[in-house]
Amino acid sequence: MAFRRLCERAVGRRGPRHPGLLTRLQDRALVSSAAARGRCEALVYRKHGEPLRVIQLETLQSAELRDSDIRAQILAAPINPSDINMVQGTYPILPDLPAIGGNEGVGQVMDVGSKVTNLKPGDWVIPSDAGLGTWRTEAVGNMNGFIKVPNNIPLLCAATLGVNPCTAYRMLSDFETLKPGDSVIQNAANSGVGQATIQIAKAMGLKTINVIRNRPDLQQLTDSLMSLGADYVITEEALRKPEMKELFKKVPRPRLALNGVGGKSATEILRHLEKGGTIVTYGGMAKQPITVPVSALIFNNVKICGFWVTQWKLDHGHDLLQEMITQLCNLIQAGMLRAPVCNKVNFQDYQTALKAATTPFISSKQILIM
Ligand SMILES: NC(=O)c1ccc[n+]([C@@H]2O[C@H](COP(=O)([O-])OP(=O)(O)OC[C@H]3O[C@@H](n4cnc5c(N)ncnc54)[C@H](OP(=O)(O)O)[C@@H]3O)[C@@H](O)[C@H]2O)c1
Repeated sequence: MAFRRLCERAVGRRGPRHPGLLTRLQDRALVSSAAARGRCEALVYRKHGEPLRVIQLETLQSAELRDSDIRAQILAAPINPSDINMVQGTYPILPDLPAIGGNEGVGQVMDVGSKVTNLKPGDWVIPSDAGLGTWRTEAVGNMNGFIKVPNNIPLLCAATLGVNPCTAYRMLSDFETLKPGDSVIQNAANSGVGQATIQIAKAMGLKTINVIRNRPDLQQLTDSLMSLGADYVITEEALRKPEMKELFKKVPRPRLALNGVGGKSATEILRHLEKGGTIVTYGGMAKQPITVPVSALIFNNVKICGFWVTQWKLDHGHDLLQEMITQLCNLIQAGMLRAPVCNKVNFQDYQTALKAATTPFISSKQILIM
C-alpha cells in the first residue's frame, strides 16, 4: 500500500484529530517558505537505492510554523532496519520522493503555534507515526504528530522509545495471556526489539529464552543480555540439540514465541512452543519464508500471527499510544528499561553510521546525534 494511501486512511479514520499527513510533514520540510525562520540540515534521498549511494546531507529552508504546529530541534535519531528498507524502496510504506530518512527519534520543542496547548518550548517529543523523516536537525509538524516524553529520561532511551519498546510491549501483552513465571522464547534477542523484550518481560515477571546467532564474542553478548535480565541465552544451533529438553525441566515451555528473523530460525523456535501457543512474526532479518511443520499445526495447534507497530498506532490512536509511552517511561525511570546497546555518531558522520547499520554482527544500534 502506498505511503500516501495509508496516511489518508489514517486521517480519514481520525478526522480532524490527526490532520498532519505524514507525507506532508516530509513535503513541508523540503519546500522553501517565504516565512521560513532559518535553515536545517537533513539526510535526503531523491531516489531509492542503497543508502550510502542515495543519501546526502542537504541544507533546507525551515518550514513555516502554522497555528497547530510545533517546531522541534531533533536531538537524536536511530537508524533502524525499516529506515534502511524505506530508503531501498522495499518497505511496504514509502514516502513521496524526495524524502528525508528516519522514522524515529527525539526532539526538543523550540516553538509552538498559537493553537498548541499541550506542548511548550523545552518539552521533549517523539513522533507518533512513521514517516516524519527524523534524520534532520529540525522538524515542523502538527502537534498531533508528536507524543510528549519526560525530558529527564536518558537521551538514548527517548530516541529509541517509539518503535522497538512499543513493539515488544504490545507483543508481550496482546497475543497470549501470560502470568508471572510463564516463559517467552525469541530469536534476534540482541536486536533492539529483543533487548526491550527481555527487560519488559522481566518487569512482567516472565522468563525469557533468548536465541542469538553464534559469533566469536558469544560470551560477551550473552553476559550483556543476562545483565539486562535474560534468563537463558542460547544459540540458533542449540535449538536443535537434546539439551533443550533439560532446559524445559527448569522453565515451562513458552506460550509465546517472537520471531524477528524468519526462515529456519522461526521454524526452530515454534517447535518449542507449548500446545496452543502463538508465534508472532514482527521481522524478517534472514529474508527467508517460514516453514511450519504440519505436526505443529495438527498436534500442537500452534497459532501463527504477525504484528506491525505502525498499523497498531494507526488503529489505536494518540491517546492509547500516549498511555503506552507513559508506562514505558515509568519503567525507564524505575531503572527497568534501558536503551539498547548504542553507538552514538555525529550527524555529519552519517555515512559511518549507515555503513555500521547494515553490517551483520555489529550488535549496536547506530544513533545519529544532531
Ligand atoms: N513489526 C514491527 O512492528 C517492527 C517493529 C520494530 C522492528 N521490526 C523489525 O524487527 C527487526 C529487528 O529490528 P531492530 O530495530 O530490533 O534491529 P536491530 O537492533 O538493528 O538488530 C538487528 C537484529 O537482526 C539480526 N540479524 C541481522 N541479519 C540477520 C540474519 N541474516 N539472520 C538472523 N538474524 C539477523 C541481528 O543479529 P546479529 O547480531 O547476529 O547480526 C540483530 O539481532 C527488523 O526486521 C525490523 O524491521 C518490526
